[in-house]
Amino acid sequence: MARAPLVDGHGRHIGDVRVSVTDRCNFRCQYCMPAEGLPWLERDDVLRFEEIERLTGLLAEMGVSAVRLTGGEPLVRREFPRLAAMLAAVAGLDDLSITTNGFLLERDAAALVEAGIGRFNVSIDSLQRDRFYEMTRRDALPQVLRGLAALAAFPQAHPIKVNAVAIRGFTEEETLPFARFAREHPYEVRFIEFMPLDADRSWDHAKVLTGDEIRAAVHAVYPLEAQPREPNATARVFRFADGQGRLGFINPVSEPFCADCDRIRLTADGKLRTCLFSLNETDLRAPLRDGATDDDLEQIIRDAVWRKELKHHVNEPGFIQPARSMSAIGG
Ligand code: 5AD
Ligand code: SF4
Repeated sequence: MARAPLVDGHGRHIGDVRVSVTDRCNFRCQYCMPAEGLPWLERDDVLRFEEIERLTGLLAEMGVSAVRLTGGEPLVRREFPRLAAMLAAVAGLDDLSITTNGFLLERDAAALVEAGIGRFNVSIDSLQRDRFYEMTRRDALPQVLRGLAALAAFPQAHPIKVNAVAIRGFTEEETLPFARFAREHPYEVRFIEFMPLDADRSWDHAKVLTGDEIRAAVHAVYPLEAQPREPNATARVFRFADGQGRLGFINPVSEPFCADCDRIRLTADGKLRTCLFSLNETDLRAPLRDGATDDDLEQIIRDAVWRKELKHHVNEPGFIQPARSMSAIGG
């Protein structure tokens, strides 16, 4: 680590950056995008591969060791595996991961593993084709399951995580099928509480199906045992008591994990965000393109990170939803 560690004003060390490589997506999930899509960024406004490489390299010099690639849908970015390989080669980064909707995994799984991506999260909200369509507005479940199987064929890609957003009125019916899915396949299924980051702004507290409710419903049929919590982990992990498979619960609304949050985010257009729910962001693209030195960029990043939010205010009166939706932030 060639530079001092990156710390915020609350004493948290930043070790993880989520990099959104495009704001575009081939799905239109209800909890994220509107049916008609969003006004996409112009190509010139999106960071180039070399720019992403430079910023992640600089962050790595400040002790960031994990990079998660997100979107939009990262695999719709042209030549994405080439970017992954560039980042895999950055000194100091030892954990390169991706969150994808899986639609293009059948095409790309081999290239991604080859590029050096070590951990994969695949988003699947329903195991029934018509309900998958309802949630994502794409009739794509068979294609996604084929992608998942293509990925699972690579031993290096394991353990694979399958993420389902949990929404009251929808996900109750999915919990036992997902529990069985996690028991029958080598995937850790994780339920993520619905957060107010949807472009349609239809979120409300009553639509959050909590991790605890799901855990109890599963436990009644397939008993679960808590696993020890890993540092900075967002998920609470359980294993089935008979040893067959694991489930995770990411509970940002009912059990916020802000206190040990070690993450920052870089949007596709080069803005640094210190929280999913940040109301302001710091532009890195203009200085990058105006000839800033690494030391200049370091100072801009440090100043922004120093002001990282203590916690989110989702559960408080007066909460303000950020202008960007999840697809424009990077999950
Ligand atoms: N609430 C919770 N999780 C969300 N995601 C996207 N939007 C939301 C939301 N409003 C998750 C999905 C997506 C990943 C990038 O983030 O699982 O695939
Ligand atoms: Fe696309 Fe992911 Fe948003 Fe769904 S949640 S629309 S897959 S970016």
